[in-house]
Amino acid sequence: MEIKNAEFVVSNSSVAQCPKSQLPEYAFIGRSNVGKSSLINMLTGRKSLAKTSSTPGKTQLINHFLINNNWHLVDLPGYGYAKVSKSTKNTFQKFITAYFEKRDQMVCAFVLIDSRHTPQKIDMEFMKWLGEHQIPFCIIFTKADKLKSKELQRNLEVYEGEMLQTWVEMPQYFVTSSNSASGKDEVLDYIEETNKGLAKAF
Ligand code: GTP
Ligand code: MG
Repeated sequence: MEIKNAEFVVSNSSVAQCPKSQLPEYAFIGRSNVGKSSLINMLTGRKSLAKTSSTPGKTQLINHFLINNNWHLVDLPGYGYAKVSKSTKNTFQKFITAYFEKRDQMVCAFVLIDSRHTPQKIDMEFMKWLGEHQIPFCIIFTKADKLKSKELQRNLEVYEGEMLQTWVEMPQYFVTSSNSASGKDEVLDYIEETNKGLAKAF
């Protein structure tokens, strides 16, 4: 898919105020600093559509972007940085879980994982929570440019091994770099494929 138009629509701290539009929606979520906003800029080909920062916790709101006038891309705040609490419920800011519970037009959540890291408990818990709530998701391994291809391969194998402790199969995944734009076509083609017919139906 080619992105011809990408425009910022609105930022909200409450899901009740998110656009009423029923356009299909794709959300980007993951730990703070994993590269969500950078990936959105890379996918849309706009350098500063979503605000990026080397300091974790930059994105604090639910940000809607309208793409090609027929679907929404959503940049969500990172989890796992602001106040880690004992209960999982509070660890993922309430409005993030409310977003996923209430936005029926959400087609797929892209859960971003830093490809350099070993599997993190909070990501595992978050994906488990998505599964329990029957919320469709894919994984995007980010910052692939920071690893040699052998290291990357090894990390992906370790990750898959960990996932298979909980899941019967590895969820669909993509490997990306916002620096080199690798993985861009794969993610956009996936969105196009799953979005087919939906924009019209809504
Ligand atoms: P919050 O909004 O704070 O949760 O962060 P975020 O997940 O939106 O991350 P952001 O896109 O702001 O990127 C965090 C840092 O990682 C920035 O310094 C980016 O330049 C860097 N970064 C993001 N993606 C990549 C990548 O693919 N490769 C490399 N080398 N650096 C990246
Ligand atoms: Mg961000």
